[in-house]
Amino acid sequence: MATTDYPDPPAKNIGPKNPLIQAGEGAVDFVDERTGIVGVGKWFMFRNVPKGISWFQTLGFTAMAVFGMQAITGIILAMYYKPDPATAHASIDAITNEVTWGWLVRGMHKWGASVMIVVVFLHMGRVFIWGAYKYPRELTWVTGALLLFMTMMMGLTGYLLVWDQKAYWATVVAVNITAQAPILGPYLGQILRAGPEFGPNTLSRFYSIHMLLIPGGIATFIAIHLALVSKLGIAETPWSKRRLAIEADEEDAKRRAARERIVHGRTPVPAGQPAPDPVRTEVDA
Ligand code: HEM
Repeated sequence: MATTDYPDPPAKNIGPKNPLIQAGEGAVDFVDERTGIVGVGKWFMFRNVPKGISWFQTLGFTAMAVFGMQAITGIILAMYYKPDPATAHASIDAITNEVTWGWLVRGMHKWGASVMIVVVFLHMGRVFIWGAYKYPRELTWVTGALLLFMTMMMGLTGYLLVWDQKAYWATVVAVNITAQAPILGPYLGQILRAGPEFGPNTLSRFYSIHMLLIPGGIATFIAIHLALVSKLGIAETPWSKRRLAIEADEEDAKRRAARERIVHGRTPVPAGQPAPDPVRTEVDA
């Protein structure tokens, strides 16, 4: 009998599975059958990456991780912070000096804010230098630019919450500058101050923007940003031979199309008729 007639050897049977693993798999199957989550998870987590990627491509994830830390420490701070002009500063004092590990959580949140801005800028610089904003990733860049704006707005709105002289006057300056902008400026100033003047309502307004509005916006846009990254894949390195060849081909195609447009822009001489000679026509007349 030829060797190809033998059936494949059976998969190695190592006995019944651990009941915990069986229960886990059963739960995953239950959820997957109703949601298709496993397929989505695989699409999101497992994809090919181009040759030559390095630590520079980890900056986006770092920004996301720092945002996660900010969310966790922020939730803990919000449990003790009192957003009222009469009590805000005292509650910050209590977090720093009385609450167990409050100084640590507050310190992590404060330094985390600066780290997040620096990391987002580094990530943006990496994307710019790699040329990863080019076709087809323009919208990834646009959603990133909105994330950068929202990250900076987190810094502005969080700074006021300490409610000391420095925080108060620094925010007055920032809001006054915003209010000077043409057309929309006065409206933005009004929205940020929660009225024509700085006052108790301004603190609540900033607290709500800092706690709810912008974190919600950042979480939503990170989801869109990452969906685009998953769909389009990571850009190839600028020095990749494949990418250089593709870009050269595109450039070539553009030039060819431009040359054809010039030809089509002129009226061709109908076939079989000699081109009129303008000099002779003039002499005949
Ligand atoms: C909260 C802020 C941000 C987070 C959490 C974030 C997250 C990420 C992650 C995880 C990736 C994939 C891995 C990587 O390339 O690092 C990525 C890619 C990308 N990001 Fe961001 N990002 C942020 C801000 C920005 C900003 C400010 C820009 C530009 C204005 C930007 C533009 C892009 C682009 C174009 C890509 C695709 C890069 C490629 O294909 O190589 N992102 N982002």
